[in-house]
Order: sequence, then C-alpha cells, then structure tokens
Amino acid sequence: MKALWETDRDYLEIVQDLLVHEDVQRLAELVHHKVTDRLTHCLNVSYRSYRVAKRLGLDAHKVARAGLLHDLFFYEGEDKHEVGGRGHNFEHPRIALRNALKITELCEVERDIILKHMSGATNDVPLYPESLLVSCMDKQVAMMELCVGYSRRVHHFMRRVTLAWVKQ
Ligand SMILES: [Fe+2]
Ligand SMILES: [Fe+2]
Repeated sequence: MKALWETDRDYLEIVQDLLVHEDVQRLAELVHHKVTDRLTHCLNVSYRSYRVAKRLGLDAHKVARAGLLHDLFFYEGEDKHEVGGRGHNFEHPRIALRNALKITELCEVERDIILKHMSGATNDVPLYPESLLVSCMDKQVAMMELCVGYSRRVHHFMRRVTLAWVKQ
C-alpha cells in the first residue's frame, strides 16, 4: 500500500529534487527510533507538517522542504552518545542544517525549522509558526514510532511466553 505522500502530486512537486538526492536517499539505510528508517521518519514529519500548514494558512512549501531535511545526519542512533559537543539533541539539528545547505539553498524560515526542531528537548526557541509546527509534528511522529516499537516488543515477548507455556 502506498503512503499518502506518494500519491500527492502537489507535495511531490515541492520535494522531488530533494527526494532524489543521494544524501537524502542515504537516510533510508539508517535505522530511526529502532523501528523505522530515517527517510521514512523525515517524510512522515514533512508530509504531516505540510498538510497541517496548508490548513493553518502557513507556508506549506517551506515546511515540506525543511521538514524533509530536518534529520539529515548520517550516524546511527546507537552512536548518538559519541556525537560530542553539547550532545545529540543539540548537535544533530546543526549537523542536519550544515548537510542540508550542501544540497540546496535555504531561506531564514527553513533554516529555523531545521535548527529548532528539537525545541523542548533543547533551549532553542522557534522564531516562526512553521518552526513550531514541524517541531510538534516531529514529536508526534516520534511518539507513534516509539509506540509501534514497544507494541512489537510486547507482541514478541508474549509470543515467546505463549510458546514456552505450550511446550511445557
Ligand atoms: Fe531530530
Ligand atoms: Fe525527527
């Protein structure tokens, strides 16, 4: 079954040049929140933010593009303790912004969206409603991913317990 963003021509037109870029495609090889890959996570954040931005009359174009690039970093989640500086939460938006600027031009709002997407977990304060929106959607998508991860773990645990019980 296709994801919603795959059938939305208007959305695809906005992000197509980024989506086909090899750096963005590299994100598909990285595990994110233990249950998905980083490209899927970025697409979910980008597309959900885009849809809400359109409803709220915000700049959906900027939200879609910066949302897709908000986690453009290339170390695995399990290596996040080795990132140095002020830690993963603070550093990875800055790394993502540097990487994003290598592949496209970004306006002030788009830069702020990427830089401030960890607000709440960091002291960063979003300067634009678009930045606040992507930060909220990032948390919502992350919660969904974590819930899926936990329910899968519970399912596997229950399956193991049941099988052990049946074998007795
Ligand atoms: Fe992030
Ligand atoms: Fe994220």
